[in-house]
Amino acid sequence: METYLITGGAGFIGSNFIQYMLKKYQNIKIINIDKLTYAGNLENLKSIENNEKYNFIQADICDKTAISKIFIENDIDYVVNFAAESHVDRSIKEPEVFVKANVLGTVTLLNAAKDTWKTENGFKEYKKYIQISTDEVYGSLGETGYFTETTPLDPHSPYSSSKASADLIVKAYYDTYKMPINITRCSNNYGPYQFPEKLIPLIINNCLNNKELPVYGDGLNIRDWLYVEDHCEAIDLVVQKGRIGEVYNIGGHNERTNIHIVKTIIDYIKENIDDIITYDLIKHVEDRKGHDRRYGIDPTKIKKELGWEPKTTFEEGIIKTIKWYLENGKWMNNVTNGEYQEYYKKMYNK
Ligand code: NAD
Ligand code: TYD
Repeated sequence: METYLITGGAGFIGSNFIQYMLKKYQNIKIINIDKLTYAGNLENLKSIENNEKYNFIQADICDKTAISKIFIENDIDYVVNFAAESHVDRSIKEPEVFVKANVLGTVTLLNAAKDTWKTENGFKEYKKYIQISTDEVYGSLGETGYFTETTPLDPHSPYSSSKASADLIVKAYYDTYKMPINITRCSNNYGPYQFPEKLIPLIINNCLNNKELPVYGDGLNIRDWLYVEDHCEAIDLVVQKGRIGEVYNIGGHNERTNIHIVKTIIDYIKENIDDIITYDLIKHVEDRKGHDRRYGIDPTKIKKELGWEPKTTFEEGIIKTIKWYLENGKWMNNVTNGEYQEYYKKMYNK
């Protein structure tokens, strides 16, 4: 029985990952620690909350005492660190919050793992720390080229800078202590349970409520979209087979402009739900400060070494995603009745 410590498991990707792992494996135990910030939602894990192989602990990854206690009381085999402040727009308003959670939180986890895993000559066998990072640490691409694992780090936003800083600390634990680690850098995820401050769930929700659809600047910024279940599969492979000390980029050539995404969502809703909706709902608003133009992953390494490729095309994934939000209106209502409403008002002065 292997024990996984998943941090940030009440958030979007973490909750998908926990469900994916419990479905796939019979012989694992999962401990989920999450601070339950505005983005953490235990409703995401309702389907497995009574599973005897799953245990939730509310804790801040920056809380040294709480984290050490968890490591002392449990024989943790793998740490998968999803916990982070994750929204670029918030990071522009409150950078310190991001440095604390993303950098200090990471070093606190690394230390607790190192202290319990170290032996006289190195580290216990079959232990590993996996840092879930982002392609945003590489900065912004021009019209051509892709991010490889050796692309220099060149983050621009406080969010991506805090993630890059965390990556460097993780690397330092490998270089200095030979701690067993992997770093994964994925592109933009989409799918069920994503907090509706991010582009895709925000646009779906606004469309369904006949609200304006805010598009930053000219809408021609490009992101490389990854369906969350494909991401979970890739992380699982990295945990099982990733070479110690290595970085793996995760993405699959699903680049789309923001305006294309918004129009695709409108088209689907117009055709299937509400034929009154038109492109007139689109509102070009002030551009994000320091807005990265294009992200694009070169997934050659993970494909060659671990045999991973995404299974979901953007066209399939976006329809699955829209349908999920349509079928889970209660989830969306509960989420949007809280913090998000306030945030939306602040962001767009409505
Ligand atoms: P999310 O914002 O939906 O969830 C983050 C979770 O972390 C929440 O449950 C929150 O409560 C928890 N958390 C925040 N600070 C914490 C702290 N100090 N202690 C404990 N828990 C804390 O984020 P997500 O989209 O699921 O992203 C997960 C990870 O993947 C992040 O590290 C993010 O940087 C990375 N990532 C996300 C994307 C994406 O498209 N969503 C893309 C690339 C990388
Ligand atoms: P987002 O989902 O915040 O992810 P990230 O900034 O981490 O890539 O944004 C995706 C893209 O969509 C990004 O180019 C910013 C843009 N965007 C909008 O145009 N309007 C919005 O309301 C939001 C939230 C994002």
